This record gives sequence, C-alpha cells and structure tokens, in this order.
Amino acid sequence: MKRTLTDMAVVITGASSGIGEALTRQLHRQGARLFLAARRVDRLESLKRELGSRVEILRCDVAIEADCQHLIDAAYATFGRIDTLVCNAGSGLVRDAAKTDRATFRQIMEVNLFGTSDCIRAAVPRMREQTIREGLRGQLMIVSSAAARRGLPYLGAYSATKSAQLQYAEALRVELVDEKIAVTSVHPIGTRSEFMQRAEATSGEKIDVPGRRGGLEQTSERVAEIMARAVARPRRECWPFLPAWWGTSLLTAFPAWADWMMLRMRRRIDAERGGGGS
Ligand SMILES: NC(=O)c1ccc[n+]([C@@H]2O[C@H](COP(=O)([O-])OP(=O)(O)OC[C@H]3O[C@@H](n4cnc5c(N)ncnc54)[C@H](OP(=O)(O)O)[C@@H]3O)[C@@H](O)[C@H]2O)c1
Repeated sequence: MKRTLTDMAVVITGASSGIGEALTRQLHRQGARLFLAARRVDRLESLKRELGSRVEILRCDVAIEADCQHLIDAAYATFGRIDTLVCNAGSGLVRDAAKTDRATFRQIMEVNLFGTSDCIRAAVPRMREQTIREGLRGQLMIVSSAAARRGLPYLGAYSATKSAQLQYAEALRVELVDEKIAVTSVHPIGTRSEFMQRAEATSGEKIDVPGRRGGLEQTSERVAEIMARAVARPRRECWPFLPAWWGTSLLTAFPAWADWMMLRMRRRIDAERGGGGS
C-alpha cells in the first residue's frame, strides 16, 4: 500500500549532510514532518532555517545509548507518533582488516550498528502503541550499504558493520511483521557526500573504492529520491542503483570469482598507494 507523505512523522539520524540531508529535503518537499538528528547541530539549525515549518532538530550522538533514547522520546512527544525512523547516521574507516584493533572496531560498531539498534529498541515500543495508518503502524529504515553483501578490501571493519545492519534488519522484519511494522534496509553504492573524505581523515588513509573511478557514483539526491519512494511504499530492500543488486548477488553465488575481482581491486589500490596495505 502507498502511504501519504503529507504530514507523515519521520525521524532521520545523520541529517546534517549527504544522504540524510538530501532525504530531509525530499521528504520536506512532499509535506512530511521531520525530526532531524546529528552531532553538528549548527548544520541542522541552518537546514531548519532554510526549510522553515515542519522541522525539529536535536543534537544526538548515536554512539551514546541515552542520546538514542532521548531522540525517540523527543520525536514521539512532538509528533505523537513515528511513522518512519531512518537510521542513516554512519561513518567509514579505511584500515587493513587484520590491523583493526578492538577499540577502533568498537568505535565504528558503536556508530553504525549500536546507533541503529539503540534507536530501534527505543522506537519499537512506541510504534507498537500507534494506530495503524495506511496499512502500517510504522517503518524502520536502516541505511546499510551494497558492501553489506560483499566485504571490500581495506574496508573490512566498515563492511562488517554494514553486513551486521543487514542481518539485524532481516531478523527484525520477520519478528515485527505481525505488528505491522515494516523494515527496509537500504544499500547504496558509492555516493557523493562527505563520507569518504571524513573516513579518510579519520583513518589517515586514502582509498579508491569500486565505482568511484568508473563514474558509477550516485548523488545523495538520487539516493534520497529512491529512498523517499521506499518510505511511501515500504519494501524489504532498497537498492538505489539496481545493477548493484545483481552484481552483489553474483558475487555471493560465485565466491571464487568474487575473490578474484576483489583481489584485482586490492592490487590496484596497492599499486596506487605504492606498496602494501595501511
Ligand atoms: N557515501 C557512500 O559512498 C555510502 C555508500 C553506502 C552506504 N553509505 C551509508 O550512508 C549513510 C550516510 O552516509 P553519507 O554518505 O550521507 O555520509 P556523510 O555525508 O558523511 O553523512 C553521515 C551522517 O552521519 C552522521 N553521523 C556520523 N556519526 C554520527 C554519530 N556518532 N552520531 C550521530 N550522527 C552521526 C553525520 O552527522 P554529524 O557528523 O553531524 O554527527 C552525517 O550527518 C551512512 O550510514 C553510510 O554508511 C554511504
């Protein structure tokens, strides 16, 4: 069933840039009420100033459990319901898989996975109390990645968080189906945003991930346009660049071939970096 976006109550984490910001603009144009969260609150403030009505903002670090609970409580208190929660906040890391220490691994898991699961754990009891609106009590949308289906060299820890998000989404979907809470995982390919620059700055390493060089990158606006459709008409998985679904399905079906492709990619990265890994 298609849901009406006008007046829909949507919470978006990581709305201060990239995909989250673009989705905010998309949904706002279509009449949704938005509750936006991120750490860079100055960015959220200027987005709110620009968009005007139907926008609330909150500083929230999704790596902090209490911030996630506070976000959901504040959004529910403001709107009286949450039709869609978009767990989009995320960060990247460029690092050899075998050199990723526990503290670094934990940091990225805390943002990408626990930031998702803490928001969802807070939101589900609220959604359960809601009346059904156009066929659903609510929707949980988790922004994972195409890398969820195939780990990328030098992005092993990041890929692991995205894969964990996907599997978490798959389990949730089946658990919540009878309660009319839909679960959608989103799987973008390389997307133009601040993501890679920030990942490289944190990691102190540069990397050219697949697609970027071949011009396969999408804009955040294009990804947001397709995500907005999946908010209106919830589906299991949302692949903003559909051929990536076919590609990753083939990589899963033929793991030896997948390893060969990834090895070629690793060798190219090594050559560009003038030697081995980081
Ligand atoms: N860009 C890509 O190539 C690509 C590809 C596949 C999947 N994705 C996924 O898409 C999502 C959005 O990324 P993007 O491309 O739009 O990158 P981006 O421009 O860097 O945006 C990331 C957003 O997440 C927020 N964020 C990061 N850490 C946070 C924390 N601890 N607490 C709260 N918010 C936090 C950032 O806000 P603050 O820093 O202000 O908190 C920012 O708003 C991520 O989950 C990413 O994994 C991206």
